[in-house]
Amino acid sequence: DWNAEHIVEELIENVRAQVGEQGRVLLGISGGVDSSTLALLLARAVGERLTAVFIDHGLLRLGERAEVEQALRGAGVNVVTVDAQDAFLGALAGVSDPEQKRKIIGREFIRAFERETAKLGDFEFLAQGTLYPDVIESAGGHGDKSGAANIKSHHNVGGLPDDVQFKLVEPFRTLFKDEVREIARLLGLPDHIRMRHPFPGPGLAIRCLGEVTEAKLDILRRVDDVFISGLREFGLYDGCSQALAVLTPIQSVGVMGDERTYSYTAALRAVTTDDFMTAEWARLPYEFLATMSNRIVNQVHEINRVVYDITGKPPATIEWE
Ligand code: XMP
Repeated sequence: DWNAEHIVEELIENVRAQVGEQGRVLLGISGGVDSSTLALLLARAVGERLTAVFIDHGLLRLGERAEVEQALRGAGVNVVTVDAQDAFLGALAGVSDPEQKRKIIGREFIRAFERETAKLGDFEFLAQGTLYPDVIESAGGHGDKSGAANIKSHHNVGGLPDDVQFKLVEPFRTLFKDEVREIARLLGLPDHIRMRHPFPGPGLAIRCLGEVTEAKLDILRRVDDVFISGLREFGLYDGCSQALAVLTPIQSVGVMGDERTYSYTAALRAVTTDDFMTAEWARLPYEFLATMSNRIVNQVHEINRVVYDITGKPPATIEWE
């Protein structure tokens, strides 16, 4: 019988036993449920001896950084945010190949993390939010959540850094996602983070098709915010496994008032899935889609056309890159 309260106490005890009275623990946080929950657990276990490093790569969603910082700091987590937007966007300038984008982002993550942690002093321990399915997968030889190791080289914030000088602290190694969510509830993680859809490590970079620029990211952030807030407002968010907006490089002709426009097309995607290896497109109500389309073209002037992705996985993937 799985008793979450009992498990939380046991996990805290185990961390204390591993880390001891003096050990300092470093954790990279992404804003996702696993690393956020781990931050709360570790703060309970070792308090100030935990440093949670949050790398702002400039590829986060609207308001996301403040949301994550508030939720964790409010729970007593020592969060250090690293402003690395310039490094990431600089390294991504002129690059439009999806795999290349992922590689650059992975490399910049490690650089930013190492640069920052060098300033923070010595850490004996590195914590990671590894879950049981990750353990099984890496034992099977694929480090890829989608099961499509050869299709996309997934870069994950949790995979940082590949360094033997740390002792690993991985309290969730025996747990499934649902169990982590239950633990998160007991530790008081706000629901909007606890029940969040997955968000890829490379962030909005792989939803901003082709070259990533600050201007495009700014458009995409506003489209995404309308869509995701809309899903929540209409009570549809929890029924989707993942939902996202994509900024396509397609520009097309439209009309606004008496004016001809020539602007971008945004794509909306929502899927249902059990394992993210296959997925169906979510049958969102037409009325909802109509409302989203109106809101997006009214609020985001750089967009004059909105499409909804009606492709399953396979043959499409969930992300567009
Ligand atoms: P795809 O697009 O391959 O995505 O159907 C399956 C799931 O994996 C997520 N995803 C990523 N997660 N780094 C990540 O941490 C990545 O590079 C990456 N690419 C895709 C995607 O959001 C979906 O949940």
